[in-house]
Amino acid sequence: MLLRLSILGALALAARKGFLNSRNLQLREVEIGLRHLPSSFDGLRIGQITDIHAGPLVPREFIREGVDLIMDENPDLIVLTGDFMNGNRGILRPNNGSFKQHHYDYCIDELARLSAPLGVFGVLGNHDFWSGKKLACAIVEDLNSVGIRILRNQSIPLEDHGQQLYLVGVDDYWEDSYDLSLATRGIPKDTCRILLSHNPDVNEDISTLKERIDLVISGHTHGGQVVLPVVGFPYLLSPFGQKYRSGIVRDGQRVSYISCGLGAYLAPIRLNCPPDVSILTLYRQREDS
Ligand SMILES: [Fe+2]
Repeated sequence: MLLRLSILGALALAARKGFLNSRNLQLREVEIGLRHLPSSFDGLRIGQITDIHAGPLVPREFIREGVDLIMDENPDLIVLTGDFMNGNRGILRPNNGSFKQHHYDYCIDELARLSAPLGVFGVLGNHDFWSGKKLACAIVEDLNSVGIRILRNQSIPLEDHGQQLYLVGVDDYWEDSYDLSLATRGIPKDTCRILLSHNPDVNEDISTLKERIDLVISGHTHGGQVVLPVVGFPYLLSPFGQKYRSGIVRDGQRVSYISCGLGAYLAPIRLNCPPDVSILTLYRQREDS
């Protein structure tokens, strides 16, 4: 009896700590060197918010905190890398969608406060598609109406002092509509390319297709959400294991950055990977470094 009570007490304490961790939003700042970054973009600051999972686990105030953290930094460009909504595929619930209209509305309202000189762009994540194709299209339209452009297998040139880089965005890697080749079509061969992909496993396809991508900005993994000492998070559905769990990963000259994300899935609990919004500062890396 005493042993059972002790175990229950320990579990309750761990759950409480996990909940407090899930509300401890961090501003994560990283510097990333890219060899082919045009000189006029040296020092470019990109704000990233990902994996909001608006729904019962993520209140309006928490999204507002993330938006405020990013806006206080005045980044040159803002990117949103998917899972705006907490839709699910019916694995855990019989009906799609574990969020209500007011969760949807406050998510769009808070994101509408984002602005940056080079614009605010985004891509959809698996949970946005799992909310239903109709709703995924509504997310695109409603974000567009507040000045946020969702790139669906598309690219857009960003210009500064006559130099260009391309921002590329793909539908979620697990969706049939995902098409990296379509997204990069027409981009001049030697131009610097920043890819927004919800799922960092897109690196598999980049390698297979031999696509030239300089930087991948992703979320999706939640950093594991619950990360155990030594073993990490043993259940990442990735062919790469934990390689792209979070942070900066280099593959030759290509760099990936994976944010731990703002929201949570299944339970408002995090362990050893606090929620974050990110500021990425890009610099031009010298050839010999
Ligand atoms: Fe997510």
